[in-house]
Amino acid sequence: MSDIFDVIVIGGGPGGYLAAERAAHAGLKTLLFEKRSLGGVCLNEGCIPSKALLNSAKTYDHALHANKYGVSCTGVTIDQKAVITRKAKVVRTLVSGVRAKMKGAGVTVVMEEAHIDGRNGANFTVSAAGKTYEAKNLIIATGSSAAVPPIPGVKENLGNFVLTNREVLELTEIPEKFTVIGGGVIGLEMAAYYATVGSKVTVVEMLDHIAGPTDREISSMLQKDMEAKGITFLLSHKCLSVEAGKVWVESPNGEKLSIAADKVLLSIGRRANCMDLGLENIGVEINRGVPTDIQCRTNIPGVYAIGDVNGHHMLAHTAYREAEVAVNMITGKKDNMRYHANPSVIYTQPEIASVGKTEEECKEKGVDYEVAKLSMLYSGRFVAENEGADGLCKVIIDKKRRNILGVHLIGSYSGEIIWGAAAMIEAQLRVQDAKQIIFPHPTVSEIIRETIWEFKD
Ligand code: NAI
Repeated sequence: MSDIFDVIVIGGGPGGYLAAERAAHAGLKTLLFEKRSLGGVCLNEGCIPSKALLNSAKTYDHALHANKYGVSCTGVTIDQKAVITRKAKVVRTLVSGVRAKMKGAGVTVVMEEAHIDGRNGANFTVSAAGKTYEAKNLIIATGSSAAVPPIPGVKENLGNFVLTNREVLELTEIPEKFTVIGGGVIGLEMAAYYATVGSKVTVVEMLDHIAGPTDREISSMLQKDMEAKGITFLLSHKCLSVEAGKVWVESPNGEKLSIAADKVLLSIGRRANCMDLGLENIGVEINRGVPTDIQCRTNIPGVYAIGDVNGHHMLAHTAYREAEVAVNMITGKKDNMRYHANPSVIYTQPEIASVGKTEEECKEKGVDYEVAKLSMLYSGRFVAENEGADGLCKVIIDKKRRNILGVHLIGSYSGEIIWGAAAMIEAQLRVQDAKQIIFPHPTVSEIIRETIWEFKD
């Protein structure tokens, strides 16, 4: 006899645990499987622990440069072991918070690896540790793993000399020479951390720019800032091979160079976890992930895929919203994802945050747009708090309709204020509407209002 549920959620990361909580609150009998630790990559080895590390780096950096603010600090050091211990405490606190939430909502949690076996009438059957469970609805939320390319030497040294997002957050010694392969989100955040705490950092990126799809003007400002802090960027460079203590790369003109490295971070993107799950047993289509429509439905009725596994936007906050959409679809409430107003943040110092279209995207898609930009130095709070620094706010609007299409920021608090811009895009606000919003003064957020005032109505 198997246990029968209304919904089975596979994967307890941000998408999965929120889906389980929302489903249980909606009155559905809900089962959540997690094979490692509740909270998934985000909470255990991604978003949260990296923010704990970056905050230690920020505190260290502030203490080192406190004299800029009339404060004297001497004998400032960083204790990497203590940083990692605090990070582990932060993770433990939040994981137990998720566990308590599941309990409070009445979700049945099974800490085992689940496998989809097939169907029993209208139900899907899932097994774990020799037991079978059934439900009419399945939510696949199995996340993603670091992509490991067939570069010679990478697999052999993985977890030891070559690190992924998992191991890089566990280093108790600061490497003297730290090389990053891939100048995307993970690579840049970890480059920023290790450069601040004293490593000699080199970032190898095969494109001619860092930070992937970020507005190009903003990403080149970030690059200049990081270079000023001592980070070397090798753009348009291909990684050829890795051997203990060395990374071989090819320059754009075909020259082979070796970079000495004590540790190498592999951050070249992520792959959806959709294999060995039994999806084929119920006919769910798989390509590079599990394809879904804007209602998070797969090709099989009753099966939803949310978060990194569907590959839309590999971001925890996207997974949160997808979780709500999937549960609403199950309970018969019409809902859908609107991916165009999905913010993203890179937590370097300065941090960058974006939502909506970039200038590059507008050009590529033939959108008739207008742009306004202002230096962060127009914000009183920014000047008061950021001695010698600068930043930028860029707003993009539709030239004819005058609604806001994109907002791109580099500077302090960017990640905390971008949601307001996302709300403007989501609500299709025009310039004349947005101008009427009152922003608190003095805040860095006012820079968005000031920049919008650069446009005619
Ligand atoms: P990514 O896709 O952001 O960046 C990977 C970079 O590696 C790209 O710039 C790519 O051109 C480069 N690359 C690929 N192959 C290469 C090679 N052989 N040699 C040199 N460069 C190469 O991937 P990343 O940084 O691994 O992040 C993975 C995911 O995690 C992303 O989807 C991201 O959204 C998410 N994430 C989000 C965070 C945030 O929101 N702050 C923080 C950390 C991760």
